[in-house]
Amino acid sequence: MTSTRAYGYTDTLEAEHYAKALRADIRGGLTGTPKSTAPTWFYDARGSELFEEITQLPEYPLWRAELGLLRRHAKDVAARTGARSMVELGSGSSTKSKLLIEALGAAGLNYVPVDVSADALQGASAQLVQDYPGIRLHALRADFTAPLVLPSLPDDEPRLIAFLGSTLGNFRRPARGPFLRGLRDIMRREDFLLIGADLVKPEHEMIAAYDDEQGVTAEFNKNLLHVLNHELNADFDPDAFDHVAVWNSTESHIEMRLRSRVDQLVKIRELDLPVHFALGEEWITERSAKFTTDGLHAEMAEAGLRPQQLWSDPDAGFTLTLATIR
Ligand code: AVJ
Repeated sequence: MTSTRAYGYTDTLEAEHYAKALRADIRGGLTGTPKSTAPTWFYDARGSELFEEITQLPEYPLWRAELGLLRRHAKDVAARTGARSMVELGSGSSTKSKLLIEALGAAGLNYVPVDVSADALQGASAQLVQDYPGIRLHALRADFTAPLVLPSLPDDEPRLIAFLGSTLGNFRRPARGPFLRGLRDIMRREDFLLIGADLVKPEHEMIAAYDDEQGVTAEFNKNLLHVLNHELNADFDPDAFDHVAVWNSTESHIEMRLRSRVDQLVKIRELDLPVHFALGEEWITERSAKFTTDGLHAEMAEAGLRPQQLWSDPDAGFTLTLATIR
């Protein structure tokens, strides 16, 4: 017999809010030059699944590198923080969270996974409350690019905010400052922030991570077209676009793009918006910044965050930084 254990669930992206943000981003992004939209919209149920597949690809070592670092150092994180609450931004399947949850001690731990994908949140939450009967789980469906409002957590104990997977790289340099400052502003003196960051490495390796042999990342990229067809009643033909990954050295980020294979006019009916794509025109669908440790720590310091400990995997070029506001 299976028992269903309860967990809290707050959706700050009610249908209307999500639709509004999607419309605004797509209208703005596809009427500008170059065309450029937020990576937030990849993650419907299929997109979250495809991302899980990406994490298993040989060309995408960063996910495994971070998993290895957490296997080795989750106990250190627990010892240094003494956290009894953990907020995880972009929690997805919560695979890595388990290492932190076990190190911190699941019984009585307040765990707040935050994600835009309702399916990913509900799947992960149901599994976690089964695996860890004593956990206090409150899932939060939210877009963390907007100011975060956390569910109430005990006031007298240290909290850990985990932002793993180098998802920080989805913010462009000018936006990272205010985002990090926003995190600093919800932290108290006794709280900690754990950030996973993928480092700059040889260009061909960075590009391969976003343009794999099997074409999983291409499918992930094109899933955006399915999302827009479904959510905005658009008529994108996924076969009319090619997946492209480019290293932008000026901005130190990988750009995923969709390149139009033909001169075409796409109708986004829900927006009453015809969008012209010239032959070969490229639309930027995601930016994934790659960091240097010094650069990242300088950005953190500028935002009032003080790195206390660095764990790194030099072979994979991946780091975890634990910071406080003290
Ligand atoms: C989840 C944002 C960290 O940028 O590497 C993977 C998403 N996009 N392959 C990344 C992604 C294409 C991923 N993040």
